[in-house]
Amino acid sequence: MRQLIAGNWKMFGLTQEAAAIATPLLAAGPLGRDLLVCPPATQIAAVARILAGSPVAIGGQDCHTEVQGAHTGDISAAMLRDAGASHVILGHSERRQNHGETDELVQAKVRAAVAAGLTPIVCVGESDAERQAGWETGVVGKQLKGSLPDDFAGIIAYEPLWAIGTGRTATEGDVAAMHRFIRETLARRFGAAGESISILYGGSVRPANAASLLAVPHVGGALVGGASLNAGQFLEIARA
Ligand code: 13P
Repeated sequence: MRQLIAGNWKMFGLTQEAAAIATPLLAAGPLGRDLLVCPPATQIAAVARILAGSPVAIGGQDCHTEVQGAHTGDISAAMLRDAGASHVILGHSERRQNHGETDELVQAKVRAAVAAGLTPIVCVGESDAERQAGWETGVVGKQLKGSLPDDFAGIIAYEPLWAIGTGRTATEGDVAAMHRFIRETLARRFGAAGESISILYGGSVRPANAASLLAVPHVGGALVGGASLNAGQFLEIARA
């Protein structure tokens, strides 16, 4: 399976900045890895126009469980798809923390995304305190159990909360152990079908650490935050 390098722009990117990040991706050339950018919702259509005809995919950062309705401020999976997205990040820790998203809600969003034809990228990860207490696999196991429907066919992103935006990347050993655990958990639940689920690593991925993280067994790619806001750095990661 080809590795996927996904950029989560979070709440960054006005029109000019979005164009400045997306345009250089057109000249990336063959990478041997797939590229995905997830701009803020307001820039999805503009970025889709810039990247039209290129192999770079576009994703949203969240969606509602319903196709449409009286949900002021929300965006449906069908709307993301209509704007040019093929993927959507769901259950990011920033949404679990800041918007109280539960595993149950994330699972409903996964179903909505798939129904709209989007590939869901479901985020899981433990906090620093949970890891200190030795609960990391328990926490991630519970998130996987609750957030994934029984017919799940998407992408997982393991993002330990203490590594997000901190510059404190997980060690190769931490990543290897967790990705092996996730791989085994998926195999138990989904059987052979689980083998086609990629498991991305996210949390302070930079050009300097990308090669070693991407070489860890069961790492199917990276979900990049800060470094994805710079096309040069994002492409360096993709070439690592
Ligand atoms: P950083 O790469 O900025 O640590 O963010 C990771 C992340 O949350 C991607 O979804």
